[in-house]
Parts: sequence; C-alpha cells; structure tokens
Amino acid sequence: MAADKTMMPPRPNLFDFHGVSMVHYFTDNWEKIQNFQARPDDILIATYPKAGTTWVSYILDLLYFSQTQPDRQTSTPIHDRVPFLEITSVPNHPSGTDLADNLVTSPRLIKTHLPVQMVPKSFWEQKCRVVYVARNAKDNAVSYYHFDRMNVCQPEPGDWNSFLQRFMDGKMVFGSWFDHVTGWWEKKHSHPKIHYMFFEDMVEDTGREINKLCSFLGLTSTTKEKEQIRHQSQFDNMKKDDMANYSTVEVMDFKISPFMRKGKVGDWKNHFTVAQNDQFDEDYKKKMKNTTLQFRTVV
Ligand code: PPS
Repeated sequence: MAADKTMMPPRPNLFDFHGVSMVHYFTDNWEKIQNFQARPDDILIATYPKAGTTWVSYILDLLYFSQTQPDRQTSTPIHDRVPFLEITSVPNHPSGTDLADNLVTSPRLIKTHLPVQMVPKSFWEQKCRVVYVARNAKDNAVSYYHFDRMNVCQPEPGDWNSFLQRFMDGKMVFGSWFDHVTGWWEKKHSHPKIHYMFFEDMVEDTGREINKLCSFLGLTSTTKEKEQIRHQSQFDNMKKDDMANYSTVEVMDFKISPFMRKGKVGDWKNHFTVAQNDQFDEDYKKKMKNTTLQFRTVV
C-alpha cells in the first residue's frame, strides 16, 4: 500500500540518546523496552538496520513453525510474527513489546536493531540465544539510503553524498554501523550463545547458512524441509510474498523504492564514486583497526 503522505507525520529528527543517534519512535517508551521480560527460550534476532533482518526472521519462522502452523505464514505479516522490540510509537503499528508479550509461540522470535549495550538485560539474564546478522558497510549504507527515502518514519536522507558522510559519522538511526557490528562481535566473548552471521554468506550459499542455523539452534529439520525453506526464502519468492515484502506497512512508499529492493552483494558499486570509495576505505581502516571482524564486499 502506498503511503498517503497527507496522513503521515512529518519526518522525525535524529537526536543523541545515551550516545546513540535515534528517533523518538524507538525511544518513546524506553522504560517498557528496558523492562521487557525475556524468557529462556526466546530467540533474539539482532541486526544493524538493512543487514538482512527480514530474511533471517523469515527463515527462522519457517524452520520453527512451517510444519506445525502452516497457516501462520499466509495469514500474518513477518513483522507481526517476529516483532521489533523497540517499535513504540510508529503510526498504526502496535508496540513491539506488546506484540512480543502477546506471542503465543514457543520459542518467541523477537527482532531488535538495538546496539548491544541497549538490549534489555533480561535477555542476558535468561541466557537467550541470539542470531546476529551483519552486512558489509558499503552495501548496508546503500540499502539504508533507499530505505530512508521511502520510509516516512526515518529522517530525510538528503542526497547520497551527505547520507554517506552521515553514515561514516555514525549519525544514523540506531547509531554507528561500526560500533554496532563490533559491539556485537565483542559480546560473543562474554555471551557464548551468539551466532554471528553475514549477509554475504547468505547470498553465497543460503543452504549452508540454514544448516549452521539449525546446528546452533539444535533443530533437526529434514533435508527436504530445509531445501523447501531455502527455496521459499529466495529473494524473488519473498518479494512476491505480501506477508514478507512489507507491502502492508503504511509508512513505506514503494513508489519511491521497494522494501525488497535488490538483495545483492556489490550494489555499492552502482552508488559510490571513486572519490567516495577512497575516502570511505580510508575512514573504514581507521575505525576497524582494532577488531578481528572481517567483511566481504563482493562474493
Ligand atoms: S530492516 O528494515 O532493517 O528490517 O531491513 P532488513 O530486512 O534488515 O534488510 C533489507 C535488505 O535485505 C534484503 N533482503 C534480501 N536479500 C536477499 N535475499 C532475500 N531473501 C532477502 N530478503 C531481504 C532487502 O532486499 C534489503 O536489501 P537491499 O540491498 O536494499 O535490496
């Protein structure tokens, strides 16, 4: 559904929230988010925005529930099956904590874009399993740019050059990509139940990554089931699926850009100029010099 711009709120402003750039849609009910009660079998899907959240949520939902609740995938959009914890005041959207509290599934699948230090403490206390998905910075920035163009709940992106500068400066909703991916990477040392995955690996071999997810989660899906899920979760199939492609969300204007946009590794080459790329690489080296985390920008 295309957004009726006359009914939509003005674009929100970014502000500093405990050292992280945010918009009010994700902080309005902060106490409720921080006091959220996780359960030991909850599975948290954590990502920086545009890193493959929907793809992995869709796969996990199918792995857990396609056999037992086959109607679920045709009747309920993925963003309600796997709610975003921090959504508090997005127009015409229930709060993420309410949606999560009302989930009747076991396990509950819950998503978050929060940087690691902002995750409600009950997830750590309950020793929940976490699936973190990371995407290389260049493609992540491009995807985020197009998302901000089409989603009125995000700040105005401005032109690509100024957006990219803001991305490098960490002035994005949910803060710096650099802090996010490295913060979660470091957390693996103190919380062993984090499965850290890469969008690029998913594109390269989705079946292999589904197998790794099953090992991490202790799932015994058959080869046939996994192959079915791999097929169902291919970009073209998810793009056609109105329960996965966000076409039911009013704040997004698909005439500007679809949610399921390209799903590729390397689209950054169609956006970065040589000068932007050089500047980005130089900045990237400095910001990532203290981490062992490595990304691929081509596969
Ligand atoms: S959000 O808004 O943060 O939840 O977005 P998120 O789901 O994390 O990321 C959206 C990008 O993931 C791509 N995507 C896929 N790529 C390949 N295969 C599949 N099945 C798939 N599903 C989602 C989606 O197209 C967005 O990336 P871009 O580069 O913009 O196309």
